[in-house]
Amino acid sequence: MNIIEIKNLKFTYDNKEVILDDVSLEIKKGSYTTIIGHNGSGKSTLARLIAGLLDKSGGDIWVNGLLLKEENLKHIRKEIGIVFQNPDNQFIGSSVKDDIAFGLENKCINPKEMDDIIFKYASRVGMENFLDKEPHLLSGGQKQRVAIASVLAINPSIIIFDEATSMLDPKGKKEIKDLIKNLHKDSDKTIISITHDIEEAYHSDYIYVLNKGKIFKKGKPNEIFNNSKELNNIKLDVPFNVKIKEELEKNKIKIESYNSVEEIVENLCRLKLKN
Ligand SMILES: Nc1ncnc2c1ncn2[C@@H]1O[C@H](COP(=O)(O)OP(=O)(O)OP(=O)(O)O)[C@@H](O)[C@H]1O
Ligand SMILES: [Mg+2]
Repeated sequence: MNIIEIKNLKFTYDNKEVILDDVSLEIKKGSYTTIIGHNGSGKSTLARLIAGLLDKSGGDIWVNGLLLKEENLKHIRKEIGIVFQNPDNQFIGSSVKDDIAFGLENKCINPKEMDDIIFKYASRVGMENFLDKEPHLLSGGQKQRVAIASVLAINPSIIIFDEATSMLDPKGKKEIKDLIKNLHKDSDKTIISITHDIEEAYHSDYIYVLNKGKIFKKGKPNEIFNNSKELNNIKLDVPFNVKIKEELEKNKIKIESYNSVEEIVENLCRLKLKN
């Protein structure tokens, strides 16, 4: 079942420049979809439209079978949690604890359980020792972690991560990526991740490539990355293992004839140097 369906979506901020042009897409319930594309291709705008934070200029969006329109907005917003690209935009509380609590208050959680829930989600992102800190005093990466905890605590059925790990260090990036993967594995949550991390996209269920406001390509990772030329034409990269596979094929190197990965890499390097 498709939890999100978009048909012929059109959007402009100023009635002049078309930012999203005839975008149609489907997202399966419980899937992990990544959206990739250059800066300015319309990814964050698309996320905001899905979450009902912007008004479309044309086309239709359905979330869980409900048409996105004024009277369904309240219901649809409850289904969707979004971790924004810039964490500064999403702090409301005067402490990390207040901030995570904010969404929970709207959910009428028993106040006695509140502290436990806050602690649980703060711990999941490694921020349990910062609960009394003022959010604006945190580093960019710490803010991103709190923003993720706040969304997880509300427990929405769809979570959109808009470059949610862009400010994290490599270790933090890996932790959050694993957390997203586990969220997807251990629950029936639908995950949409907007990312420049091609390796993350490679491990998702389905990929949409946005280019200049249009869907350039869609498909499973193997289908998206089976033609690196096509992606290179719009200056997008392909995962490292795909590059290696293509080089091996191009040079007619058979993996079976080698004893180790090192030998294969060495051979490839030698061929590269010769060319
Ligand atoms: N509030 C706004 N008002 C006017 N134009 C905007 C606004 N926000 C974004 N845009 C424009 O819309 C286009 C798409 O922006 P968007 O933020 O959706 O891109 P993106 O794919 O998320 O890029 P990035 O990878 O840099 O985050 C850009 O050309 C941008 O300049
Ligand atoms: Mg963006």
